[in-house]
Amino acid sequence: MAGFPNVRLRRLRRTEALRALVRENRVEVGDLIYPLFVVEGKGLKEEITSMPGIFRGSPDRLSPEIEDIASLKIPAVLLFGIPEKKDETGSSACQPDGVIPQAIRVIKSAAPELMVITDVCLCEYTSHGHCGVVNDGQVDNDRTLPLLATMALSHAAAGADIVAPSDMMDGRVKVIREALDGKGFPHIPIMSYAAKYASAFYGPFREAAESTPRFGDRRGYQMDPPNVREALREVEQDIKEGADIVMVKPALAYLDVIRQVRNVCNYPLAAYNVSGEYAMVKAAAGRGWLDEKRAVTEILTAIKRAGADIIITYHAKQMARWLQEE
Ligand code: PBG
Repeated sequence: MAGFPNVRLRRLRRTEALRALVRENRVEVGDLIYPLFVVEGKGLKEEITSMPGIFRGSPDRLSPEIEDIASLKIPAVLLFGIPEKKDETGSSACQPDGVIPQAIRVIKSAAPELMVITDVCLCEYTSHGHCGVVNDGQVDNDRTLPLLATMALSHAAAGADIVAPSDMMDGRVKVIREALDGKGFPHIPIMSYAAKYASAFYGPFREAAESTPRFGDRRGYQMDPPNVREALREVEQDIKEGADIVMVKPALAYLDVIRQVRNVCNYPLAAYNVSGEYAMVKAAAGRGWLDEKRAVTEILTAIKRAGADIIITYHAKQMARWLQEE
């Protein structure tokens, strides 16, 4: 007799206490990673126009922000660097005293317990804005690999806790793993952007990171949005090459991809709630068209419900504050 009127699903929805008792998914501050843009130079701090509330700052201006993040108990930041000088091969990405190594040292002295994850990709450092070395108008996969390995090593040597390659070159996890192992960093995990799609939702990020390609687009190396079986192959490859954590990116238009990866993979899974997803919510909330707290909570909970363990999000600080108020 499992039917109405014996069954009344509304019984467990009547009060907040009942709803909380049967709630299946929750976002906790410990799930969140906060992305940070660091600009080379001194005395710089500016808000990113298309990402209200998100700033780019130079290493010397980072400490107050870092103390704020650490006091909210956010476990990790994900660093993106914007160098003073860009060139064809993105050589400033590999310098031991480049913008990211400088930032890591500042962060580690301001908040030693805050984990530092670094984005490993050349697009912010190349004059053409592509994620690798360009040869005859094409991004050359194999020539890019050693540069990524050197870049990752310079981050580990400066004190990064995790490195996160986001370039989508084939074989990059393998060369980074070998480089780390060979140079005394076998304990440093790799979080790979395994299934990273060529997405319109990176628009605001490219303004922030000055990484828009000068010609063409990234469809020759990032994934084609209609594909999901291919995402599972990407994840499989990265795990074979030594990834410790795999990521799906973006998150919102790819919740099905997150779920399918979760169903076949026992590795920790991260999802990147990207800049365009943030910008949409902020734009609508700023006009009073959405309740920001409810919308953000719903979005982040949906990403967990889809199967992510870890969420990289520009809402992290705000969400951490809301969770503290509860
Ligand atoms: C670098 C990189 C990008 C993002 C993260 N790492 C941009 C891109 O691939 O163009 C996007 C993050 C965001 O939109 O929040 N390759």
